Amino acid sequence: MKILVATGKPFAKTAVDGIRKIIEEAGGELQLLEKYTGDDALCQAVSNADGLIVRSDKVTKEVIAAAGQLKIVVRAGAGYDNLDLAACTARGIVAMNTPGQNANAVAELAIGMMVYMARNAFQPGTGSELRGKKLGIHAYGNVGRLVAAIGKGFGMDVYAFDPFVPKDAIEKDGVKVCTAVEELYGQCQYVSLHIPATAQTKQSVGYALLSALPKGGCLVNTARKEVINEAELLRALDERADLKYISDIAPDNHAVLQEKFGTRYFSTPKKMGAETAEANINAGIAAATQIVNFFKSNDKTFQVN
Ligand code: 3PG
Repeated sequence: MKILVATGKPFAKTAVDGIRKIIEEAGGELQLLEKYTGDDALCQAVSNADGLIVRSDKVTKEVIAAAGQLKIVVRAGAGYDNLDLAACTARGIVAMNTPGQNANAVAELAIGMMVYMARNAFQPGTGSELRGKKLGIHAYGNVGRLVAAIGKGFGMDVYAFDPFVPKDAIEKDGVKVCTAVEELYGQCQYVSLHIPATAQTKQSVGYALLSALPKGGCLVNTARKEVINEAELLRALDERADLKYISDIAPDNHAVLQEKFGTRYFSTPKKMGAETAEANINAGIAAATQIVNFFKSNDKTFQVN
């Protein structure tokens, strides 16, 4: 059993050590491809792998075509929009994610970015506090739930919109339910985005929702840049000098946003949400364990294709 860990953005060493231990104890062999760029290096490295662990690395149909022995790919993380699921399915390759394993790291970053914006990007001058402000959670999954809990700890008044989660499951956390997404954006000064990037959600947050935000509104995106309609984001920020946008991963229009909107806009250069040792360990170990269980007992828990 040859397992390739291919991470353009490497895991912390402790996570790699833990993954190696699990694979080797199960009689497998770990191969490591870190900080690579482009498909070619991955295509070459994956050619003799039985299993593959990635982060946001793109597993394209070309990669799948080059992976003649591959039986399983695990995205160590939540969003699996980087995997070509159709190509995996066509070859009978099982695709999985590790839901929830890095959620706390992302949630802490979302709240941290809110503090940063509330304090005017740490520039001298008077900022504001999160306490008493309305926080809207757009999608109440693993990350959304934790952002809500931390927001409540800050004394925020928390609302959520998620048509896929039963109302009482949200309400039992002390979070108010919005039945329409417009209702969430219409009243929450801070909205934290946690929708996955799918054909339905791509470009789905645009002018209508952004301009519905109350005075001083701030959209925090630790999800995916693709869910934002950037042309409409630019228009909304242009029209309203009180609106703010903060993103974990640079939008396509990063330079324009930075130049035009100064401290009303911030983005991390490279996605940092899951960049903690704890998240790397949790997601990496879960991925390795899922692979071992798959080869040992055909366990397909967390299969996504
Ligand atoms: C995820 O979907 O799990 C997060 O966006 C983290 O992605 P990363 O592993 O590329 O940091």
